[in-house]
Amino acid sequence: MSKLINKVAVITGGNSGIGFGIAEAFKNEGAVGTITGRNEATLNASIEALDNRFIGIKGDVTNMADLEQVFKKTNDKFGKIDALVVNAGGIVDGVPMGAISEVTEESYDRYMELNLKSAYFTVQKALPYLRDGASIILIGSSAAHRAAPGMAIYSAAKAAVISLAKGLSLDLLPRKIRVNTLSPGSIDTPVFGKIVPQEQLDAVKQVWIDITPVGRQGIPADIGKAAVFLASDDSTFIVGTEILSDGGMTNISLMK
Ligand SMILES: NC(=O)c1ccc[n+]([C@@H]2O[C@H](COP(=O)([O-])OP(=O)(O)OC[C@H]3O[C@@H](n4cnc5c(N)ncnc54)[C@H](OP(=O)(O)O)[C@@H]3O)[C@@H](O)[C@H]2O)c1
Repeated sequence: MSKLINKVAVITGGNSGIGFGIAEAFKNEGAVGTITGRNEATLNASIEALDNRFIGIKGDVTNMADLEQVFKKTNDKFGKIDALVVNAGGIVDGVPMGAISEVTEESYDRYMELNLKSAYFTVQKALPYLRDGASIILIGSSAAHRAAPGMAIYSAAKAAVISLAKGLSLDLLPRKIRVNTLSPGSIDTPVFGKIVPQEQLDAVKQVWIDITPVGRQGIPADIGKAAVFLASDDSTFIVGTEILSDGGMTNISLMK
């Protein structure tokens, strides 16, 4: 229970779902740090659930000034940053995804902004405060590899995130900062409630379970464990690559 002892981590979107699961796993391994999000109520509840080992900083990852203050305040409080988890992303509030015939230029831009541009600039704004040898974990998605209805833009953004881990690892080699992508499959988080009516939730989750070879959705703790590995000294030879935590969905066909 000490793989991240004395490490300082920043987890964007740490106030919900996968990000909170990662924060919990980090806390259990001895880390402290910052979680971010826009929702003050869930930020406060999450900090309490993390035994106040993390501070909460409110901010929008698509806003450059917000990003800058997240890393400055974290550095002011803890004096360094050892690990960055670029997790905030997914659904843009009030902006539907859809098939190409339904997507507007504005919705295209908003999805790319949240799921690709913000990832790039989250890393850029963190750089002045990340210590040499730090670990950066970009949250990708199995959707980058396997198309699903109405998700083409999101999938393309996440595929680009996987590519970023390679290019940014090269850029940051002189500082020995490792960048890797951790790509979840279908994980049971509040995101489903944001896109699916309550009465259809179980049926939609079952569709994902049916295409997941291990026969269940993942839980945020599954992703938390893999993130601990990537943030820890156990993975110092792992650079510029992707780890899929998807219950086999991407690489195994059930041939039903
Ligand atoms: N659940 C899955 O099946 C799944 C699968 C593959 C990949 N992923 C990826 O995993 C990550 C987390 O997803 P999740 O399932 O845990 O979803 P979630 O429960 O909806 O959490 C999304 C998080 O991102 C934050 N966020 C969203 N927009 C933001 C913005 N503009 N600025 C700052 N924070 C923002 C949210 O906080 P606020 O609302 O407070 O801002 C929240 O903490 C995403 O990158 C998603 O694409 C999820």
